[in-house]
Amino acid sequence: MKSKKITVSNLGGYHPESESCKWPSGSIFEIEGKRLYNLVRGLKPLLIVEIGGFHGCSTSWMAKALKDNKKGKIISIDNHVLIGHWKLMPDELKEFAEFISADAFTCDVPDNIDMVFEDGMHTPLFTKKVAKRFKPSMVFVSHDYCHESEVGFNVKSDFDEMFGEPDEIYFEDPSDCGLAIKYT
Ligand SMILES: C[S@@+](CC[C@H](N)C(=O)[O-])C[C@H]1O[C@@H](n2cnc3c(N)ncnc32)[C@H](O)[C@@H]1O
Repeated sequence: MKSKKITVSNLGGYHPESESCKWPSGSIFEIEGKRLYNLVRGLKPLLIVEIGGFHGCSTSWMAKALKDNKKGKIISIDNHVLIGHWKLMPDELKEFAEFISADAFTCDVPDNIDMVFEDGMHTPLFTKKVAKRFKPSMVFVSHDYCHESEVGFNVKSDFDEMFGEPDEIYFEDPSDCGLAIKYT
């Protein structure tokens, strides 16, 4: 992937079938990446903050949109020190991203955030804590909104309590996760 020019057709994502899977399990699905890409292309945020960068799949999709917008930056936060969450990211997209290896609730982040993408622990109160700490001017997006309590996830309850009904729930095959989008 590093040598090939990155397009929306080859960036890829997680997929349950190995021949279609380009990123590690735990990464967002390709179709979710495309929805995030289109969101960033449309809204043209100058500053995106991502909570839960992991190996850089979702970071790459948003960075690709920033590149195509010719403006903006994504700050990607992840507290998992062993992942090195920029390593799988295509080189040509890295200049649009800044990586913070720290806890999202204690690290320093600028105030003027336009967009938040949240894909962290998913456990009770996590999404709520993110929504209380980060207040974007344009949009707040949570991953795993439709991935409910049987796996101990609590994104939907937290999200609904903070924002009410999402403006959009993006839940398409083959994903079992779902994106919740709220324009702020
Ligand atoms: C499901 S993965 C994110 C997947 C990523 N969005 C992607 O598409 O590749 C969740 C990530 O959240 C990170 N995380 C969990 N709690 C965190 C916290 N308090 N601060 C920063 N990162 C956190 C984990 O280390 C993990 O890498």
